[in-house]
Amino acid sequence: MSYHHRPFRSILYIPGDKQRALDKALTLDCDGIIFDLEDAVGIDSKAGARETLAAQLGSADYGRRAVLVRVNGHGTQWHEDDLKAICAIGPEAILLPKVDSAADVERLAAVLEQYENCADTKIWAMMESPLGILNAQEIAAAPRMAGMVVGSNDLLKDLNATQTPERTALVASLGTCLLAARAFGLVCIDGVYNAFKDEDGLAVECAQGQVMGFDGKSLIHPAQLAVTNEVFSPSDADIDLARRQVAAFEEAEASGKGIAVVDGKIVENLHIVTARKLLAMASVIVAAGS
Ligand code: COA
Ligand code: MG
Repeated sequence: MSYHHRPFRSILYIPGDKQRALDKALTLDCDGIIFDLEDAVGIDSKAGARETLAAQLGSADYGRRAVLVRVNGHGTQWHEDDLKAICAIGPEAILLPKVDSAADVERLAAVLEQYENCADTKIWAMMESPLGILNAQEIAAAPRMAGMVVGSNDLLKDLNATQTPERTALVASLGTCLLAARAFGLVCIDGVYNAFKDEDGLAVECAQGQVMGFDGKSLIHPAQLAVTNEVFSPSDADIDLARRQVAAFEEAEASGKGIAVVDGKIVENLHIVTARKLLAMASVIVAAGS
């Protein structure tokens, strides 16, 4: 399935050393998993997490879920060992933290070239530093790039900004990532919502991200999955409207017209592209049973 016909609504972080959570994820309704060796793992557990995760990914089958491994960043004492252990498995994707420039991605791409197993391995970038956001365009254009994940906690820290429900401080960075991702055909995933027991607050933040154009949201707890999947799935009303738009446009075309009107709004060719995309995604989601 191509990246563009695959849902990326809910992408769950799992600390690489939490065996119980690694197993639990086999049954969770998430579109993707970020198996984390970086900030979710304490310094004393780094080596153990790497072994646990490599063993798990070598044996368990996560089915339709996207499998991303977040390694420790270049310049840390764990980076090379992480890559050795993870590249041997040939993962679907490596999520590189704290990407500042295209050179960071190129360096990882050159390493992946050395592993036969990694011929198809994609690179995803954590967008979480001011320099990374400013260089979003060159990062998006770098080799093997397939997706971006906003690291909102790191960004707030480096921006000297304050977290608010409207995310005023982050809007410029979120928009910049989306521009870069869309310009180069990448998946774009919104940052996490820290208060994992606050479902209403999560729903508001998911809706904000969905309106901006994100494919989905990164999550920290299974309790966040249902709300997120719902917000990022086409609603029944969306599907109904899209079907009516397609039907009305096809009828208009058949009588030699280029424009139809549905619910008092004009429908042109470009709206039909969006409507068809929405209907295709809705069928993929139904087929995935979620
Ligand atoms: N992925 C998969 N399963 C998870 C999970 C996750 N991120 N977080 C919790 N679970 C599981 C637990 O293992 C537990 O399973 P069980 O019923 O089989 O025992 C169940 O969900 C309930 O967990 P709960 O007790 O509510 O959470 P907790 O107190 O154990 O953990 C956190 C809370 C926030 C520490 C934990 O959710 C976590 O580590 N999240 C990921 C954090 C992370 O990766 N951060 C880095 C990126 S920001
Ligand atoms: Mg981070």
